[in-house]
Amino acid sequence: MEKRIVVLAGDGIGPEITSAAVEVLKKTAVKFGHKFDFDYRYMGGCAIDKFGVPLPEETVAACKASDGVLLGAVGGPKWDSQPAENRPEKGLLGIRSALGLYANLRPAVIYPELSDASPLKPSVLEKGVDVMVVRELIGGIYFGRRGLEDDGKTAYDTEIYSESEVRRIAKVAFDLAMTRRKKVTSVDKANVLLSSRLWRRVVEEVAKDYPEVALNHLYVDNAAMQLVKDPSQFDVLLCPNMFGDILSDEASQITGSIGLLPSSSLGTCRAGLFEPIHGSAPDIAGQDIANPIATVLAAAMMLDNMNLHEEARAIEKAVGKTIADGWRTPDMGEGKRVGCKEMGRIIAKNIG
Ligand code: IPM
Ligand code: MG
Repeated sequence: MEKRIVVLAGDGIGPEITSAAVEVLKKTAVKFGHKFDFDYRYMGGCAIDKFGVPLPEETVAACKASDGVLLGAVGGPKWDSQPAENRPEKGLLGIRSALGLYANLRPAVIYPELSDASPLKPSVLEKGVDVMVVRELIGGIYFGRRGLEDDGKTAYDTEIYSESEVRRIAKVAFDLAMTRRKKVTSVDKANVLLSSRLWRRVVEEVAKDYPEVALNHLYVDNAAMQLVKDPSQFDVLLCPNMFGDILSDEASQITGSIGLLPSSSLGTCRAGLFEPIHGSAPDIAGQDIANPIATVLAAAMMLDNMNLHEEARAIEKAVGKTIADGWRTPDMGEGKRVGCKEMGRIIAKNIG
């Protein structure tokens, strides 16, 4: 099969981790007899440097016409002095919104070999961790009305959700739960926020169509606590945009390293966007010590979205073998030390 993949390497460690993932994808293409064309485009700080804006029109057009978008990470201190509307992160929010990617899936799974790297006690981890954070991605406070008043002495952002926005993300969560352990925990702050009360009401309506799925609601502060107290209680964690941003970082730490977790963003566009959940880590950029595994696993999620399931499983198996064989980038704790490039090479070799 022939597929066109847009690569948005971005900033910081972005180019290193995407190049490792591309190496793995190339090996997968050879092994399964596919042709993947890689189309490199600019988004984030690198796009500001080249085009003056974080999300050039031509990048959006290329993504819309592609079969999948693989993203590294964006941002860094170099662009800190940019005005708010022209920051690298605006590129990321812009592409999510332009492609209609309302559903962000962030699986947090613990690899038993890496449980040493988790800050949680073995007695907490032994019940297993397999949480799927389903984060609403193009609504809420990230996209609500914002502004400055009083000569810039007062600022506001608005948390806003419509029924249809909540309904479509809730459906994604329940559909996923049906393929998993049939449990949805919806996160809100319904004791304080009106938008959360609407969220909760709509989630309950959607739940009626899924009688086999158990639904419970947690306030976000309690959810943050329960995640570290007993992560095994969670299957699908359904969150509004900002709560999902925060809880997915927390969930990643339970698994040992933020360098391991991929995410997919899906919606109304054929091409989804696939990226690690971590940032651009400017402090370690260019040193060949970043962990490419999250990006490699994001590439596997991209293949799943192209209906190349066997290929996606092959990548996941290759990552599993690499970890089981003891190969570790510095963030993964003790083991046979490798850099980013070498890690990519070993995973590619393990594709067979
Ligand atoms: C993420 C990131 C982004 C977000 C930032 C970089 C805008 O933290 O993907 O989780 O908040 O969505
Ligand atoms: Mg985040």
